[in-house]
Amino acid sequence: MKYRVIGQDPKTRRNVSVLSLGAMLFGTATDEPTSFAILDRYVEAGGTFIDTSNNYAFWVTGSRGGESEVLLGRWRRSRGVGDEITIATKLGARPLAPGTGYVDNAEGLSIKAIREAAERSREQLGMDTLDLLYAHIEDSAVPLQETVEGFAELVADGTVGLLGVSNHWMWKVERARNIARVAGLPGYEVLQYQHSYLRKRADLPGQLSPDGDQGVVGGDMLSYVRDAPELALVAYSPLLAGAYVRADKPLGPEFDHAGTPVRQAVLREIAGETGATVNQVVLAWLIGAEIPVIPLVGASSVAQLDESLAAVDLELTTEQRTRLDAAR
Ligand SMILES: NC(=O)c1ccc[n+]([C@@H]2O[C@H](COP(=O)([O-])OP(=O)(O)OC[C@H]3O[C@@H](n4cnc5c(N)ncnc54)[C@H](OP(=O)(O)O)[C@@H]3O)[C@@H](O)[C@H]2O)c1
Repeated sequence: MKYRVIGQDPKTRRNVSVLSLGAMLFGTATDEPTSFAILDRYVEAGGTFIDTSNNYAFWVTGSRGGESEVLLGRWRRSRGVGDEITIATKLGARPLAPGTGYVDNAEGLSIKAIREAAERSREQLGMDTLDLLYAHIEDSAVPLQETVEGFAELVADGTVGLLGVSNHWMWKVERARNIARVAGLPGYEVLQYQHSYLRKRADLPGQLSPDGDQGVVGGDMLSYVRDAPELALVAYSPLLAGAYVRADKPLGPEFDHAGTPVRQAVLREIAGETGATVNQVVLAWLIGAEIPVIPLVGASSVAQLDESLAAVDLELTTEQRTRLDAAR
């Protein structure tokens, strides 16, 4: 395994593995014995960065979510897991009622919602301090100032270590960080967005905004992170849920453009040259990028996880990387 530091402050920064494991479906679509086996294998291989959210996975069971946090809490207790494993969770997108969703009925990012959600996550995970807490989605109904202060209070009282943000337009991330900077408060240091080797069309409306999908890494974000190396970029769904290699997981309409087959062909070429799988080339490309990215993979079996873990040791040559970057 390889490691890197996320966060700046010596009191809250974390040394994490360069491959993160997503627990989104653990405790719902993925049963407990399988989830525990995947978690155990990840730790055995040196993995130290696990991701969840307080709303996982409400859409599987029609609940308000939380099954993943509860399962992780049980796993932590049964294995005696301590501070060596970083667990990230998220708040803001938990539905307010069972059977509803986050598009129009989310808990949001008010001070009250932040405080209540963080308390519940601490209880469910069995952690005094949440290592990393993300704002999961935007809440336009709450002034950014309030959200920034709400998160900062949690850091001040030791409820949370690092702060992160997901699925927010970049200008909102910068505005929130600036509010924090001016007030001398801790701000977001970890950005979690969807990112992979294949590019999505940027001209389609998103689920949460008619202007597009604010959850997808684009040029705006890459240039932002390039200019702020103190930020860490975590890429969710880097394997496109299996779509690189599986006929039963077709690419969506957002990949229907001329660049997709070109990039798929280069991926296959490099996989052939290296003896690695296409998934592994994608993960190695992210990990070793000029702007380094922490892929956040999902797995529903130990075998799938093993394939992703092996990507950490795949070193692409400069020439291979140039060819991958140039394909469009
Ligand atoms: N911030 C956000 O809004 C957000 C959104 C989505 C996800 N996330 C986080 O990101 C994590 C990962 O998301 P994801 O599950 O979409 O990521 P992903 O890594 O793109 O997809 C994982 C899925 O791909 C398939 N897969 C994995 N390895 C495979 C292999 N070697 N061969 C074939 N298929 C393989 C499996 O599907 P099957 O299980 O069907 O076999 C697996 O569940 C989540 O757990 C969550 O923590 C965050």
